[in-house]
Amino acid sequence: MFVLKNETAEDWWEVEALYDTCFAPGRTALSSYRLREDVSPVVALCRIARDETGILGGAIRYWPVLVGRVPVLLLGPVAVHPTAQGEGLGAALIRDTLARAAELGHERVLLVGDEPYYRRFGFTKLHGVEMPPPTNPDRVLGYEVVDGAWQDVTGEVTRIDSGA
Ligand SMILES: CC(C)(COP(=O)(O)OP(=O)(O)OC[C@H]1O[C@@H](n2cnc3c(N)ncnc32)[C@H](O)[C@@H]1OP(=O)(O)O)[C@@H](O)C(=O)NCCC(=O)NCCS
Repeated sequence: MFVLKNETAEDWWEVEALYDTCFAPGRTALSSYRLREDVSPVVALCRIARDETGILGGAIRYWPVLVGRVPVLLLGPVAVHPTAQGEGLGAALIRDTLARAAELGHERVLLVGDEPYYRRFGFTKLHGVEMPPPTNPDRVLGYEVVDGAWQDVTGEVTRIDSGA
């Protein structure tokens, strides 16, 4: 039985180790990590799942980015330990944080991932939103926290503090 909690500073390296376990080696070389460098995550949306013995089963983080001049939440990384996958934990982390994002007044969410997984949460392929290369455009997905929030939002995805 997993319980979702806010990630704290003490959890940081354990979450990093979980991501190292769940993703292919070299994950931080991905272009999405350039958008996170020297930028603080959105702490209210960084959540972890621990079981009753304290074992970390899953984690999700978000970063603020810009698309053109519009503020957007970048979802990820999200990962569930291989021994806990397929039991709904990933879905629980995503649904929990999308609901919190709405409560906090965020309007739209971006991620780079597999559309066959994320469409169940309401993510659809974005057009005209350019992640730093190399990114497969078919994996650039958006979610509208507020109806219509992605309408007319296009351009390059940049770091929030990059002066864009
Ligand atoms: C992707 C991930 C977070 C999903 O978490 P999870 O707890 O295993 O997922 P859930 O239990 O909520 O959902 C399981 C369902 O999603 C499907 N699924 C999982 N990953 C998928 C993918 N990449 N593409 C399509 N479907 C996927 C499973 O087949 C399963 O389908 P079913 O409901 O029809 O049986 C987890 O598998 C993981 O950590 N993977 C490695 C890291 C990763 O790829 N992270 C996402 C980066 S885009």
